[in-house]
Amino acid sequence: MEKEKETRPEGRQIVMSGIRPTGYLHLGNYFGALRNYVRMQEQYDCYFMVADWHSLTTHPDTKELKNSVLRVLAENIAAGIDPSKACLYVQSRIPEIAELYLILNMLAYKGELEKTSTFKEKVRLQPENVNAGLLTYPVLQAADILIHRARYVPVGKDQQQHLEMARNFAQRFNHRYGDLFQEPEAFNFGEELVKVPSLDGAGKMSKSENQFATLYLADDDDLIRKKVMKAKTDTGPTVKNSAKPPEIENIFQLMSLVSTEDTVKKFDEDYGNCTIRYGDLKKQLAEDMVKFISPIREKAENIYHDTAFLAQVVEQGTEKARKSAKATIELVRQRMEFNYF
Ligand code: TRP
Repeated sequence: MEKEKETRPEGRQIVMSGIRPTGYLHLGNYFGALRNYVRMQEQYDCYFMVADWHSLTTHPDTKELKNSVLRVLAENIAAGIDPSKACLYVQSRIPEIAELYLILNMLAYKGELEKTSTFKEKVRLQPENVNAGLLTYPVLQAADILIHRARYVPVGKDQQQHLEMARNFAQRFNHRYGDLFQEPEAFNFGEELVKVPSLDGAGKMSKSENQFATLYLADDDDLIRKKVMKAKTDTGPTVKNSAKPPEIENIFQLMSLVSTEDTVKKFDEDYGNCTIRYGDLKKQLAEDMVKFISPIREKAENIYHDTAFLAQVVEQGTEKARKSAKATIELVRQRMEFNYF
């Protein structure tokens, strides 16, 4: 049989990304990833998946899983993912991913898996549970992407190595069994990803580090205010037009994400004139953060409790995702000549 590369009938390029259902989304997730997803759903055929199988590699207890999955779906929809535009689904509902994972495992080498940074990090963090799923995490991720023959994967720096591995597995498959997969690449509208600094002046907002320095989309108004008012500052500028120290730069960076241009400009001028009052700066930032976060929080809360709506979203997403996955698995089986009869 002719082994030509399959092209997708729909003209649009396919975007695929996975979201781990562990913990609440924070401002870093929003500006670093979600906002791009929202933009992409207008132009691409998007598949956004809740990676519940992946979460078993670090969270084997499944009691809380349902809540976490519903929560992450609700937060993503509240933040702008439109289930009528993007396909929103749950990994464990797509058995074809597991089949492709099995096949790809035979094309992945122990040595390269052991060298993966995220694996080494996890071994350090959970030495008592170095399971095989942890080792083959990047293979499962490659299956997530390749099952839709996706072209673009909107992920940050920490996922580059996994993506590189997905390209390698795709190449090995193509080489051994005949061209099928295009090589997926990271894509973020060609822009430097927005970094969202943490409120303690150390690094980015993140789930695992200082909780009080990270703003979550689920934080209530008072908590947002408290966190912002505690943000690190210094004693203030004494020389006109001096450069801002990193922790002040961070506050301005956060402000530029949620406040109006005029507001940022005003405080910037005050800083330049040495008339700035950090108390006022933080109060303003706190109010603008509340204005930004509270509608998302309230929307997420409503969606989270609307189980019927979420069930319908996932059902619709699963149907579309499975159709795409089945088509790919059919081609995989053909390429590998598994269709004996
Ligand atoms: N590993 C990703 C993370 O930790 C989540 C993920 C799972 C993913 N499957 C994916 C990302 C497929 C992109 C594509 O964030």
